[in-house]
Amino acid sequence: MGSLEGRVCVVTGAGRGIGAAVSRMLAAEGAAVVVNDLGVAVDGTMPDNTPAQGVVNEIKAAGGNAVANYDNVADHDAAENIIRTALNEFGRLDVLVNVAGILRDRMIFNLSEEDWDAVINVHLKGTFNTSKFASIYWRQAREGNYRLINFTSVSGLYGAAGQPNYAAAKMGIIGLTYSCANALHRYGVTSNAISPAAATRMIGTIPGRENVDENDPERSPNNIAVPVTYIAGKESGWLNGWVIGAQGYNLTLMSNPEPVSQLIGSQPWTIETAGAAMERSFKPLAQSGTMYQRRQAGQA
Ligand SMILES: NC(=O)c1ccc[n+]([C@@H]2O[C@H](COP(=O)([O-])OP(=O)(O)OC[C@H]3O[C@@H](n4cnc5c(N)ncnc54)[C@H](O)[C@@H]3O)[C@@H](O)[C@H]2O)c1
Repeated sequence: MGSLEGRVCVVTGAGRGIGAAVSRMLAAEGAAVVVNDLGVAVDGTMPDNTPAQGVVNEIKAAGGNAVANYDNVADHDAAENIIRTALNEFGRLDVLVNVAGILRDRMIFNLSEEDWDAVINVHLKGTFNTSKFASIYWRQAREGNYRLINFTSVSGLYGAAGQPNYAAAKMGIIGLTYSCANALHRYGVTSNAISPAAATRMIGTIPGRENVDENDPERSPNNIAVPVTYIAGKESGWLNGWVIGAQGYNLTLMSNPEPVSQLIGSQPWTIETAGAAMERSFKPLAQSGTMYQRRQAGQA
């Protein structure tokens, strides 16, 4: 018996890369999996049913249980159909893993409205769309042990200069994850995000990372699938409202943002008194630490 026997999972963006690895591992542990993928190019164009169907074929050939779905997560009505596919095919839903993603990298001064909207729509709105319809089911079913697992990125956490749309979407997903952690816990749902790093076609499109070795076991998407599969199980109920980093063989519990220094006023500040106090208290902190060092080195 696998650790996920009897559980039903939906994985979006599951036809390739990390989503495919997650789907295979969930199925190998005994879960029934809806393999959703629009089958698009990295920029979100040219849909194709082949990737999702291919992963389903692999899972079935290995003795697992899976069904393909080709809907677009960015389409509100289509996202409802993704969740309904799990209910119609397998009778329930325990785990939603929102992996689907695209890239349209530009510096902010070159970024078109269309490229902003496309990336926000797939990542942020797409994660909202599926999570909303899953939460409607979970709120009614009330069996508990449900899992919402979203995908964020160091691009947002560190502020990648050439990815303003993607960085914003991925930080938006963290806010959505925290909100769902607070809103849905009473219905037995935990909500967490994964910040992955793995050798996939998506990474290969980023300037300077074209030569990524997809056969390096340390960069394998399987290393991301492991913590996702653990969180998908019933034993992970203690984890709610966190970002877990997964890179190579390292797993990281990321800190949630919290105050590092505070100036407590007893009367309105003037621009001069606020400026002087901020320079005295905040400036040494703002000019130290990893984020500042990354910016100075032009890496963030
Ligand atoms: N690979 C990394 O190192 C890395 C780093 C940080 C974050 N991420 C995130 O991990 C996730 C997976 O990335 P990946 O590297 O496996 O990329 P990938 O390009 O290999 O896979 C993404 C999949 O999402 C699908 N997809 C795109 N738009 C869709 C839509 N509207 N509806 C349904 N499916 C859609 C694509 O067809 C593709 O199969 C993404 O959310 C990405 O932002 C990846």
